Amino acid sequence: MRPSTLLLTALSTGSLVAAAPSFTPKPSTTKSTNPFEGKTQFVNPKWAAKLDQTFWNLLKKGDILNALKVPKIQATMSTFVWVSRRSELVNIDDAIAAARKAQKLTGKKQIVGLVLYNLPDRDCSAGESAGELSSAQNGLEIYKEEFVKPFAEKVAAAKDLTFAVVLEPDSLANLVTNMGIEFCANAADVYREGIAHAINALQYDHVHLYIDAAHGGWLGWDPNLPLAAKEFAKVVKLAGEKGGNKIRGFVTNVSNYNPFHAKVRENYTEWSNSWDESHYVSSLAPFLEEEGLPSRFIVDQGRVHLPGARKEWGEWCNVEPAGFGMAPTTKTNNTHVDAIVWVKPGGESDGQCGMAGAPRAGEWFDEYAQMLVKNADPSVFKLF
Ligand code: GLC
Repeated sequence: MRPSTLLLTALSTGSLVAAAPSFTPKPSTTKSTNPFEGKTQFVNPKWAAKLDQTFWNLLKKGDILNALKVPKIQATMSTFVWVSRRSELVNIDDAIAAARKAQKLTGKKQIVGLVLYNLPDRDCSAGESAGELSSAQNGLEIYKEEFVKPFAEKVAAAKDLTFAVVLEPDSLANLVTNMGIEFCANAADVYREGIAHAINALQYDHVHLYIDAAHGGWLGWDPNLPLAAKEFAKVVKLAGEKGGNKIRGFVTNVSNYNPFHAKVRENYTEWSNSWDESHYVSSLAPFLEEEGLPSRFIVDQGRVHLPGARKEWGEWCNVEPAGFGMAPTTKTNNTHVDAIVWVKPGGESDGQCGMAGAPRAGEWFDEYAQMLVKNADPSVFKLF
């Protein structure tokens, strides 16, 4: 479904934009540099350390071949650093210290991936990643003052590094499709205000913002594409009314399992144009451009399911079998995509669901990590 001719006319005459004078549209045709280009994606030593047990467990099982893959993954694979509650703000300090060390040691500029993830009433539909803040208990104020503010101060003070910040996975997607759930409907304005505030607070040249755009199986359906673009535009416009609202683009597939380039077009995709993430990005891009938003993306390939692993696209929790996906790179073969990234640190659970024995969301699940190693994409082991 495409926007109506009426809407296109309204946009081209500027009548909709005119209603919002403080909102400066930034079409993707604007020449701007890919922040990932020429930089090394930060390898988080804290995540790498968790894989020590994966190494030993594989070795104990006599699976030497797979055990020997682990050190390469630990040394070279970049994962994003999640900041999912106030007590995890310290993760930013640790990441900055480690990235500075790597920068000094290697002489290579580092880009550090961070996930800002602590909205009040978080994960309003799935619930497995419900957070610490509630809108009924002053959550929005706490979010702004005690979470976003120190978050912004920390990255602002590290101008010698570059940051890619993922904003609030799943949140706006829930507003697009889950307004029938009362908890989501009640949280809608809090989500918009919170994200707009975060965009506003993080306006620094060395900080590049990517708003979460869920994945192809969620917002990629034809009827959802224009609704998603409009929801994103609403929030970016709100940020503009508060001051700066520059974003680099959007991030897809965070903590999901869709391949960037699918080898098999699974039946559950029902011939959707967004049947893999590269196609999803290309499907969403024109709708973003029509809203005056940048059509730039990063795509999470931290974990990717193997063909036939899911019966339904809606399966999102510790899916098996899966493997580590394409290694982080800027070579994406899609002009809309800045980089392939690993946002979800593989081995951290999605929640107490999916593969048997899964611990709570975010906790280490070594059986799962071992499977990811065994099924890892060959690009992970390429030397150059
Ligand atoms: C889940 C958890 C969160 C964790 C993240 C990354 O969303 O709720 O605490 O940081 O996954 O593993």
